[in-house]
Amino acid sequence: MQQEAVQRNGGRLLLIPFPLQGHINPMLHLAQILHSKGFSITIIHTTFNAPNPSNYPHFTFCSIQQPLSQTQDFLDFLLDLNVKCTTPFHDCVTKILSQEPVACLISDAICYFTQDVADTLRLPRIVLRTGALSSFLAFAAFPLLRQKGYIPIQDCKLEEEVTELPPLRVKDLPMIKTEEPEKYYELLHRVVNTTKNSLGVIWNSFEELESSALKTLSQEFSIPMFLIGPFHDYFSASSSSCSSLILQDQSCISWLDKHTPNSVVYVSFGSVAEITETDFLEMAWGLANTNHPFLWVVRPGLIKGSKGLEHIPSGLMDNLEGRGLIVKWAPQQEILAHSAVGAFWTHNGWNSTLESICEGVPMLCMPCLSDQKVNARYVSHVWRVGLQLEKGVERGEIERAIRKLMDDNVEGKEIRDRALKLKEEAKLCLEKGGSSCSSLEALVTYISSFTFQAS
Ligand code: UDX
Repeated sequence: MQQEAVQRNGGRLLLIPFPLQGHINPMLHLAQILHSKGFSITIIHTTFNAPNPSNYPHFTFCSIQQPLSQTQDFLDFLLDLNVKCTTPFHDCVTKILSQEPVACLISDAICYFTQDVADTLRLPRIVLRTGALSSFLAFAAFPLLRQKGYIPIQDCKLEEEVTELPPLRVKDLPMIKTEEPEKYYELLHRVVNTTKNSLGVIWNSFEELESSALKTLSQEFSIPMFLIGPFHDYFSASSSSCSSLILQDQSCISWLDKHTPNSVVYVSFGSVAEITETDFLEMAWGLANTNHPFLWVVRPGLIKGSKGLEHIPSGLMDNLEGRGLIVKWAPQQEILAHSAVGAFWTHNGWNSTLESICEGVPMLCMPCLSDQKVNARYVSHVWRVGLQLEKGVERGEIERAIRKLMDDNVEGKEIRDRALKLKEEAKLCLEKGGSSCSSLEALVTYISSFTFQAS
């Protein structure tokens, strides 16, 4: 996206991301999109996982101090953040409001603590939901799913269909592993309710992709919905990496340049998923046995209880003769846009899923937790642009699935064709008159109405 010479007359917006990579990326993209429409931007962020202000000289950054650490249990981290950030956030916003008028607050849906603060300060609050509408529908259905006995999940019912949320099966419900499920239900209840009580929801998705979920949600939520995604497609692949918390290893690109089109499997599980050492070894052998080159992101912390690559089978990489490249963190969007990449083995975080859809790269789905499970089911059974590993992580199944996606066969070709078609739809929605382009115009008008009230 070009930084247009736009007059800053849209008013000031306060944006607060949830401090994990998969949430920071879309929030900072949204900030850039709204800045290009004439709004002034202040990012309020935690000191933990703080974005780099020097990558955004045109924004103001305000940091709120709080003792957070991601080393604790994931659920406790989410709950803790919502408690510890309330007072510093209130103080920060109060100070900003004493200096200049603010049009509205845009808060990540997971930061539900912002609702009370916004209400107290009479600040209009819009929510950014960084995930898909389809997974949010499943979160919103938790009370019903509990009432109907789908949740808590029983192992004997994993394959059963959830008739209220087709095509989900019980095992596709967005659960996390926790000893304290009540805490998780309470968290979802708060996220869903404070989203419902906001003045509108911005989605990093597009209407053509999720029309059915949009219809249902619009009936359940009587607030405006703005589907203005895919956010990252407003920017060039190389320029949209400013929000990366980890340095991206650019050596992958020259390595990819040496490979023929659609020959490489790209493997990455995002910023929070963990796998066991046993699964890691099956993955390594499965990849090696396909004979396709692979580029694999193994970030520190991916393998439970390990900091690095000490579990790579001795000799495996040597025997591959350069056919495999492992890096700690990669320029993912550039990789997915590279002609050498023929498939993406992903955990189906929403950003990864959407980035893959936008590049027409078929997916091998291996969801680990929460919304990833819903996303994977939609990829394999609604949009049908990928396959899901259904029988655990086993080298034979991995090899078969990758061959199906990449080699010459009818099913693989159909998946690849659908992926290319969906890529075209994603491109069209951002063009003038396209659904996301029109929705963005509507959002700008909507926010500007708050500006009028505030000034
Ligand atoms: C988390 C949740 O796990 C996910 O389910 C939810 O939808 C969003 O928040 P994460 O696991 O990090 O996100 O996955 P994802 O949503 O895919 O986001 C990862 C981001 O990091 C993507 O934008 C991706 O391009 C980027 N990335 C990933 C890199 O820049 N380099 C890498 O090597 C890997």
